[in-house]
Amino acid sequence: MIDILRKKRDGGALDEREIQFVARGAADGSIPVDQLAAWLMAAWIRGLSRDETRALTLAMRDSGVRFTPKNLGKRTVDKHSSGGVGDKTSFLVAPLAAACGAAVPMISGRALGHTGGTLDKLEAIPGYRTALTLAEFEAVIAKCGVSIIGQTDQLAPADRKLYALRDRTATVENPGLICASILSKKLAAGLNGLVLDVKTGSGAFLRKMEDTEFLAALMVVTAEPAGTETVALLTDMSQPLGRAAGNWIELVECVELLRGARPAWSEDLRELSLILAGWMIHLGGKAATPKAGYALAEAALTDGAGLAAFMKMVDAQGGDVSVFDDMEAFHKPGVTLKVDAWQSGYVAKMDTTALGWAVQRTGAGREKAGEPVDPHAGILFHARRGARVERGQLFATIYATHVDMLAEPVAILKAAIHFSKTPSHAVVPLVSRIITREIAENYLRNAVD
Ligand code: URA
Repeated sequence: MIDILRKKRDGGALDEREIQFVARGAADGSIPVDQLAAWLMAAWIRGLSRDETRALTLAMRDSGVRFTPKNLGKRTVDKHSSGGVGDKTSFLVAPLAAACGAAVPMISGRALGHTGGTLDKLEAIPGYRTALTLAEFEAVIAKCGVSIIGQTDQLAPADRKLYALRDRTATVENPGLICASILSKKLAAGLNGLVLDVKTGSGAFLRKMEDTEFLAALMVVTAEPAGTETVALLTDMSQPLGRAAGNWIELVECVELLRGARPAWSEDLRELSLILAGWMIHLGGKAATPKAGYALAEAALTDGAGLAAFMKMVDAQGGDVSVFDDMEAFHKPGVTLKVDAWQSGYVAKMDTTALGWAVQRTGAGREKAGEPVDPHAGILFHARRGARVERGQLFATIYATHVDMLAEPVAILKAAIHFSKTPSHAVVPLVSRIITREIAENYLRNAVD
């Protein structure tokens, strides 16, 4: 390991055998954490070439077993996001795709950096089990069409270890490490189809469009030869997605949509979820085009089939579905603070990464690995980018664990929002590009590592 560390530190390229050594050692604990942390930092600073990234992805996939369902009799599809704030589409797309006939074995992660984690959000439901055996995982998918679990000691264990360590060592924002982390889980799940939601803008890990494009292309060309049909959508993360960022409050926003509500503040979340679900349904062989998949997903949202699939999955994984009977009554934050707009103007820009840290500081995220998160903490945003607000108008509602945990999120929030005197006419599209294999190959031909 010391030779590998020295080589990477000095800018050398690691070969497949060396990369496999790192992934195996991360998974089985034979490489001490200090050396793994040093390796991550060297890889972050020096970067990983495309060959190294491919080798790391496959080695992390092979660090555990593969999910090879025997009896599903359906194409398996999934969606994964590169990470954002208020990014909760999984609770919509997974049940919607399942309701439309695809099988969705979704392996998700916990909060990472300033972004929230699907598993932490699901664990806001009392009893919900995010760690299932592979046999249980398959049984839930057979019954409900969908199951959402985390990396386990069996499935992508190298990612389980490295994911948590990256969070603690400031080594998250690197295209090679993100690609290997996301795809190792997805390829271990043996998917037929994968939709990647690659975020761009102020709340993404890679904020600049060219970096987002590179990451998207890198993931598509790495996943496809490994046997998973893959498409990447470049989507906006220049503001939180929808209204809520936290744990329970994000589930509430999704369940309201699954129940057919159409609040204006969740329109971006609804639209993006239908686009992503449309692609999943298409790759799952249930619609001839992504557009036809969108129509099927919208029908499943309207007729309650998506809601039924979601509730069935929660129940099958031990969750108490009765908490959704009165979602407001179940929500018991330690303390609530209404923050009024501190000036008048148009909401011109948001530092969405800072907003993600504000959410974490309410208690919704963790400071150290293994710490519990507060399921009831988080922030509701009452104004979108571009909106005109008047001083004194309600701008955000902060739910924190304790009164002492209010000042910091408020300060971060106030520094993260930029007002302008005049409206901006710049339109930021929700989906700016769709990257298929051909586009990805062309892109990478002209890009430098
Ligand atoms: N999601 C992951 O699973 N891994 C990353 O590195 C980023 C987002």
